[in-house]
Amino acid sequence: MDNNLTMDKLVNLCKSRGFVFQGSEIYGGFANTWDFGPVGVELKNNIKKAWWKKFVQEDPSAYGVDAAILMNPRVWEASGHVASFSDPQLDCKSCKYRFRADNLIEEKFKDVDVEKMTTEEMQKFIDEHKIKCPHCGNFNWTPIRQFKLMFETSRGTVEGEKDVVYLRPETCQGEYVNFLNVQRTMRAKVPFAIAQIGKSFRNEITPGNFLFRTVEFEQMELQMFCHPNESMEIYKSYKDRAMKFVEELGLSSENLRFHDHEKLAHYAKAACDIQYNFPIGWQELNGIHHRGNWDLSRHSEFSGKNMEYLDPYTNEKFLPNVIEYSIGADRLTLAVMSEAYEEEKLDNGETRVVMHFKPFLAPFKVAILPLQKNLSEKAKEVYAKLSKEFMCDYDEAGSIGKRYRRQDEIGTPFCVTIDFDTLEDDTVTVRDRDSMEQIRLKIEALTSYIAEKIKF
Ligand code: GLY
Repeated sequence: MDNNLTMDKLVNLCKSRGFVFQGSEIYGGFANTWDFGPVGVELKNNIKKAWWKKFVQEDPSAYGVDAAILMNPRVWEASGHVASFSDPQLDCKSCKYRFRADNLIEEKFKDVDVEKMTTEEMQKFIDEHKIKCPHCGNFNWTPIRQFKLMFETSRGTVEGEKDVVYLRPETCQGEYVNFLNVQRTMRAKVPFAIAQIGKSFRNEITPGNFLFRTVEFEQMELQMFCHPNESMEIYKSYKDRAMKFVEELGLSSENLRFHDHEKLAHYAKAACDIQYNFPIGWQELNGIHHRGNWDLSRHSEFSGKNMEYLDPYTNEKFLPNVIEYSIGADRLTLAVMSEAYEEEKLDNGETRVVMHFKPFLAPFKVAILPLQKNLSEKAKEVYAKLSKEFMCDYDEAGSIGKRYRRQDEIGTPFCVTIDFDTLEDDTVTVRDRDSMEQIRLKIEALTSYIAEKIKF
């Protein structure tokens, strides 16, 4: 990561280069929502594909699902969300801005562990330290109240006969409720995992840190169902696998660290985050949680279905423990972009911005650039050939130098330039994004050359 990188710089690059736009921008935006543009959607899809490959495709004991966002409301009673999924919030009576009590304390007193505080303790702390409103500077707060974080909607078309339905605040419940289905249909033996990637929704107020925390976000979650005796071993192995995965995506080890939780949910046996050093500082990137048998016991109780597993080898019947590995696709995309960014000083005194994405993550693998417009017919032939295999960009407008810079800024690992020699001998120049070195290759050799370089 470049030391000069700020969140504002990244937001501006994302906007100008088609990674991410403000949600509903032409209406003045919509707080804490972002739209991935043509470049960003490719990057995020590649990150999701890499996760699926590592944790589902390459793991014979993992199975994927894609569960409904709208679930029977009883699910959220069983999970505990209806009773207790809320944030401690308070309003400034002077300027009407709303804040999270824990954020207010954390921002002023970095060493205070708010995670350990009750609502009453937070209230006392804010009063005693006279923490003022960060927006208007007054000390004029409402008492702290718990605000529900689940978005509610309703089902039913007849007025007065509507039932409340929740937009899921996490994807993992779709994995728990399908435990029996997956086990039976796939003849799965414990330990096995169920994974999915999908949208979740949380009605949070956030400090507006771009993609870091948004009200609508995409989660990549995996639940490993296992025997209690092997659960701690599996928990540790997911810690290692999760760390290896983010390093393989290009995040450097000096920007990554484990953070073991001291305060655990009453049912949890262990929990940790992997934190990343974002442009806003160290923050959670993903979580790995040992959840005991809480989830399956609650769903057994609330659904009336016995979710015990009968071990075919030992004949032991037990309720599996769950090791959860959960990571936000948007947040991980933010980390990957932060890490990739460099303002590089060139020998000629100029500076270029370059996104050093690992080639398998790059939005476009190759850009096809005819040196002049009258070479576009040949260039389009090359585009038609390569785009059958890879995401390609095509650009014939402006000087070749400017076109290279644009590709550097969106992290395209290879630029293929079509020139007059191409018409003679079917060769092109291939420019490497990072070294800026150029080699000459036959068009027929391009597919295998690029395919080799973008393997994951
Ligand atoms: N399922 C865990 C989480 O959403 O963070």
